[in-house]
Amino acid sequence: MTDKNKDTLHFMICGRVDNGKSTLKRLLYESKYTSDNKSTALRCGTKQNIPIDEAYLLFATDRRNYIMDDRPWNEQFKCNMVTGASKNQLAVILIDASKGVLTETRLHSRIVAMMGIRHVVLAINKMDLVGFDEAVFHRIEEDYRNFAVNCYFSSIQAIPLSTLESDNIVTLKHMPWYDGPTLIGYLDTVQVASASSSGIFRMPVQKVNRLDQGLEGFCGCIAEGMVRPGDSIRVLPSGVTSRVKEIIASYDRLDKAQIGDTVTLTLTDEVDVSQGDVISGAGHLPEVADQFQAKLLWLAESPMVPGRPYLLKLHNQEVTTTITRIKYREEINTGAHLAAKNLIFNEIAVVHLSTGQPVVFEPSTVNHSLGGFTLVDKHSFKTVGVGMINFALRRASNIQWQVMEINKQARAALKHQTPCCLWLTGLSGSGKSTIANLLEKRLHRQGKHTYILDGDNVRHGLNRDLGFTEADRVENIRRVAEVAKLMVDAGLIVLVAFISPFRSERRFARELFPEGEFVEIFVDTSIEECEKRDPKGLYAKARRGEIKNFTGIDSVYEPPKSPEIHLCTVGNSPDACTDIVLQYLGEQ
Ligand code: ADX
Repeated sequence: MTDKNKDTLHFMICGRVDNGKSTLKRLLYESKYTSDNKSTALRCGTKQNIPIDEAYLLFATDRRNYIMDDRPWNEQFKCNMVTGASKNQLAVILIDASKGVLTETRLHSRIVAMMGIRHVVLAINKMDLVGFDEAVFHRIEEDYRNFAVNCYFSSIQAIPLSTLESDNIVTLKHMPWYDGPTLIGYLDTVQVASASSSGIFRMPVQKVNRLDQGLEGFCGCIAEGMVRPGDSIRVLPSGVTSRVKEIIASYDRLDKAQIGDTVTLTLTDEVDVSQGDVISGAGHLPEVADQFQAKLLWLAESPMVPGRPYLLKLHNQEVTTTITRIKYREEINTGAHLAAKNLIFNEIAVVHLSTGQPVVFEPSTVNHSLGGFTLVDKHSFKTVGVGMINFALRRASNIQWQVMEINKQARAALKHQTPCCLWLTGLSGSGKSTIANLLEKRLHRQGKHTYILDGDNVRHGLNRDLGFTEADRVENIRRVAEVAKLMVDAGLIVLVAFISPFRSERRFARELFPEGEFVEIFVDTSIEECEKRDPKGLYAKARRGEIKNFTGIDSVYEPPKSPEIHLCTVGNSPDACTDIVLQYLGEQ
């Protein structure tokens, strides 16, 4: 169907079905639309094994092969953001001439820009509904161009269409005032070569393979430039250098490979290369950092909360990340910068990100495959956001870890104890503080050095600026977890008694500590029982509507799924609960 001697244009169509999207798809697909001069006779078919309605539409003209990406939006995001090689080069943005540029059009355009697509066809359809009026066409084009200034597209071509009688798809019809190309005529000739940067070789390593004679092969898709045997390379983040020995693609040895090719490289030296590393050509190198400014589109139903840990997927790297700050949210229609505390579905913002480990990247404007990323929920593994890195924050490179000579082990040895963090979680009134207090007394009597971080108390000082919204609780837990970590580092046994209602923040706390040092203790008391006890009279107030966002009433509590210790306070006295914890610590 497609022809190897012609180049292939990857594109997508954005717009609603009622804008004529499916008709346009059908027109492209059906071969009956042939042009007068034969040069644009459409021949269509499907890619092997992919049902036509679900994935891609393939067709060819005499000039070009076409692959139209027809997957659901979400799929396209993921693919475009993390696998640069298969990315769309152009988007056809469909507009209903009788409606003009809508919020949805603007949202789609901003998303398309974030996917790294630089070329847009503004297909102004249903011209028949506006009497083929030239003025309407020009007004919509102007509206769109004004809006699109900060999408930074390299080209925008407006074409008036009427899919009703397939006007201007293959043949110019009904609009004598229009002297531009037809849709197919334009797609056939548009130049979409990437304006991308240096052209210096970049290959993110997807897999390390063991080859014959113990040799290692580094497999990946070339994201930029080309490579030949003998070329000098540098591996990032380690910075080690070597030369390319061989380029292997399905058992063949190649004398060169280039952007878009998936190959396995062997090197002349035995160097340490792992999945997620980037092999780069000599010269200008990708950067390595752990704090960034990025543009982010939020795609989840639940809001994005700064401070919450997510998984960042950037080419073949996967690291924990948190959004440390929302600089501003971008209003979809005007691009105005608005203040924001969180982000909801389909909102776009410029944010600061901090990653658990340094990652190798390039600004997405320089190289989209090394700068486009997705954010994934750590529990459901669903994609919750997509984004592009603008640049590394300076502070990332200017702050270093100072190594001190007296370490945790030395401090702990002096105290004759194994420091740890005992993290008590449960509803307000469940008995966390009571049990923590008894535990500390018992440990103290045994000569242990301890400290209690209690929610109510810490909120009087360090966290007095925080309330009980989801965002504030996330920050509350982040801070206390960091403090607990410092105290454990000081050699103490730290007892944390915070409601800590969200699983993701408790997991964040856990991940700050080495295996075994974090002990999650679920103080399990039902909401009914807590409400009956109501030691501070807060449940009664919450029921009267005097306290908002009260845990268990109008704010969720996510019980731990596999805590180290599960204490049922109904039927077990506080002393009995304390015994259970002490027994656990004794066994460890
Ligand atoms: S957490 O949810 O952010 O972990 P934290 O443990 O610091 O909460 O503080 C909980 C204490 O604050 C409760 O024990 C209660 O005394 C008090 N409090 C006041 N308002 C609320 C509220 N809306 N929800 C829960 N606790 C509240």
